Amino acid sequence: MNGLLTGKRIVVTGAARGLGRSFAAAVAEAGATVVMCDILADALSDSAASLREQGAQVESHTIDLADPASISAAFNAIAEGGAIDGLVNNAALATGVGGKTMMEYDIDLWDRVMQVNVRGTWLVSQAAVPLLAQTPHAKIVNVASDTALWGAPRLMAYVASKGAIISMTRSMARELGPQGICVNAIAPGLTRVEATEYVPAERHQLYEQGRALAGAQHPDDVNGTVLYLLSPLANFVTGQLLPVNGGFVFN
Ligand SMILES: NC(=O)c1ccc[n+]([C@@H]2O[C@H](COP(=O)([O-])OP(=O)(O)OC[C@H]3O[C@@H](n4cnc5c(N)ncnc54)[C@H](O)[C@@H]3O)[C@@H](O)[C@H]2O)c1
Repeated sequence: MNGLLTGKRIVVTGAARGLGRSFAAAVAEAGATVVMCDILADALSDSAASLREQGAQVESHTIDLADPASISAAFNAIAEGGAIDGLVNNAALATGVGGKTMMEYDIDLWDRVMQVNVRGTWLVSQAAVPLLAQTPHAKIVNVASDTALWGAPRLMAYVASKGAIISMTRSMARELGPQGICVNAIAPGLTRVEATEYVPAERHQLYEQGRALAGAQHPDDVNGTVLYLLSPLANFVTGQLLPVNGGFVFN
């Protein structure tokens, strides 16, 4: 993918670890300057340093999606470096949010998931639009989840938040299209990262045996779709949802 994103400046949220770190590395390898954002300051600084050691152009900013002031502060700092060409809305509360049925779910946890995953994604996008609007064919890639497509049980707030991401993607595509900004979503299937080590073995088995392309999913399996949606190859693609799950569930 070398050169696909040369000269671009792309923000990836939730880039300290997991899928976000993998997207950041892929974006940098494709030639872009990557702006890595996360709430985990130490992990962010380690991940940014390791990408720099590999020769990547990296900026990094701590951000808390639950805190509108933190989002403004991070984007004011990002704006000092000028326009951006892309935003990957990857950060989310994705761990410690499952295991309870809708009858047992806790209101505080429900609110927290919505605050970070839904409101946070909206506010980050809102802060990014003035920077995206300065470049032609700018791109937003929202990270949903295929759990929203098949209705994974014992995970309802998370699933609802990812359903909202899919709907917001469509609405954002229509609102931002006149400014030339494409907005799409991906729906990864269960992917092997640090965070999913805590997912029960049966859920991993369900995915690994239920995929058309049987087997485990790794971050590398998702990178290509993110690069495509950020690239000029996708200049006429907007409002779409691309499941990247080895064919576990179809859109
Ligand atoms: N791994 C999977 O199986 C899978 C499947 C489908 C979708 N996803 C989605 O992919 C994305 C990445 O998930 P992951 O699996 O790498 O998990 P993860 O928990 O490792 O990644 C989430 C990242 O978001 C950051 N984050 C959490 N709360 C934040 C906040 N308030 N402000 C800023 N950053 C915050 C975390 O620190 C972390 O770096 C998430 O949107 C998740 O919902 C993951």
